[in-house]
Amino acid sequence: MKVGYYQFNPVFGDVARNLETVTKKLSSVRCDLIVLPELFASGYQFVSKDEVAALAEPVPDGPTTKRLCEVARERSMHIVAGLPERDGSRYYNSAVVVGPKGVIGCYRKTHLFFEETQFFTPGDSGFQVWDIGAAKIGVMVCFDWFYPESSRTLALKGADIVCHPSNLVLPHCPDSMVTRCLENHVFSITANRIGSEKRGGKKKLTYIGTSEIVNPRGKILHRAPENREKLAIVDIDPKEARDKSLNPYNDLLRDRRTALYQA
Ligand code: ACM
Repeated sequence: MKVGYYQFNPVFGDVARNLETVTKKLSSVRCDLIVLPELFASGYQFVSKDEVAALAEPVPDGPTTKRLCEVARERSMHIVAGLPERDGSRYYNSAVVVGPKGVIGCYRKTHLFFEETQFFTPGDSGFQVWDIGAAKIGVMVCFDWFYPESSRTLALKGADIVCHPSNLVLPHCPDSMVTRCLENHVFSITANRIGSEKRGGKKKLTYIGTSEIVNPRGKILHRAPENREKLAIVDIDPKEARDKSLNPYNDLLRDRRTALYQA
């Protein structure tokens, strides 16, 4: 199975241009699954709820999801991508999962980071796993990584690959995903963005790039540079994620002592 990510520098508010950048880039790519950054078509640093309202889109009928479906159909691939979702009067920091036959699912970010808490409603979708044929994939968005329960839940639900659209600003995630993969025996694909945003007099946010793909043994299969655009595709065997044994005596998920984990 060929999986990858596209790390680039979205332009705030220019959905058409960001969609064009992604469409062009993917037009020559052959892979089964590609992960794009969090809020890849809208940009990240909202300064008002009105901006969120103007850029948020319904799923599955919004223009970003529709365009992603066209690309997925044309390229026979699956795409996981972050976008601001509108549902009635609520806005979610979501990620859609689309494939050649259309929309497969939508995950709403559970753990909102920093000023996202001012603009978005905490996600209510829960952590979900979808079978895309070649693998079972789960989705978490950026800061969800800080909560080990996110990837653990996805692993318990059978995910082979944790797809992780991100707009990382803190330095710790790329190294930490090694542990997330090791402790759950899953693959991860973290798709981060590059560049910076400093909007409406707010603190400058500099995105750390460093997108990466990690295997179930905690090996980094690919890590992107900090500040350059990068499309990376690697070959993986999702079956590697299905054996949770460490040795004849230890099995990661079977050996959990859940009765002792209650606070
Ligand atoms: C983040 O959750 N975008 C850091």
